[in-house]
Amino acid sequence: MTRAGLLFVGVLSLAGCPVESDIDPMMRQEKMKPYWPNDFYSDNRAMRIPPANAVPRERTLAALTPPPVTAALVERGRERFDIHCAVCHGFAGDGDSVVASKMSLRAPPSLHSDKLRGYTVAQLFEVMTQGYGYMPKYDSEVSVADRWAIANYAKALQLSQRASLDDVPADKRGDLDKPVQPAGEKGEQHGGEHHGGTSQHSENKE
Ligand code: HEC
Repeated sequence: MTRAGLLFVGVLSLAGCPVESDIDPMMRQEKMKPYWPNDFYSDNRAMRIPPANAVPRERTLAALTPPPVTAALVERGRERFDIHCAVCHGFAGDGDSVVASKMSLRAPPSLHSDKLRGYTVAQLFEVMTQGYGYMPKYDSEVSVADRWAIANYAKALQLSQRASLDDVPADKRGDLDKPVQPAGEKGEQHGGEHHGGTSQHSENKE
């Protein structure tokens, strides 16, 4: 068939279809699309700026209210961080992971940069909820409560890498010389580095 012939058949078959579907009459209703002008408003914009303090309807009250920080919450955060985040950001949050070494486009950053150390718990919560650049959002994988837990643990992780003696309560400073408790496989991996401590394990009363 010639090109003109094909075009003719095409036009014929289009003519056979109803232009608008009766199944979805909402398609035909009057509406404003984003960026359309609208002279109903004085600024002639169809898109409106939400009033101050408006809350997106996807946000639940739980997502707006950070839970009180407890040791149990941070411990839960550590468990969830190790499952959901460490695979890319590393167990220490320093961006040292197998995935990071393979992500040539943009590797997951260290959470210990000046920028991310300046993030509040709520901002970290937000990154997990909304995603960020190449990082997908984790709102369906990680519950609201666990996102708060992870965000608090991430702050603890940041502190752990920059803490000074002043950050340790006076009555706990004596504990600093005690050997580190091995934490499952992670502890074992780095076991060789803590040589001085391992011989004292039996004395650790905690
Ligand atoms: C699949 C790998 C991957 C996982 C899993 C992952 N991230 Fe990320 N994350 C990234 C990448 C990549 C970026 C940088 C994205 C960019 O700059 O485009 C990033 C960026 C970030 C940032 C910086 C955002 C900013 O504003 O600069 C934070 C904070 C963060 N991730 C926290 C987390 C937390 C918490 C988790 C666990 C819920 C997590 N990430 C899980 C890959 C990951």
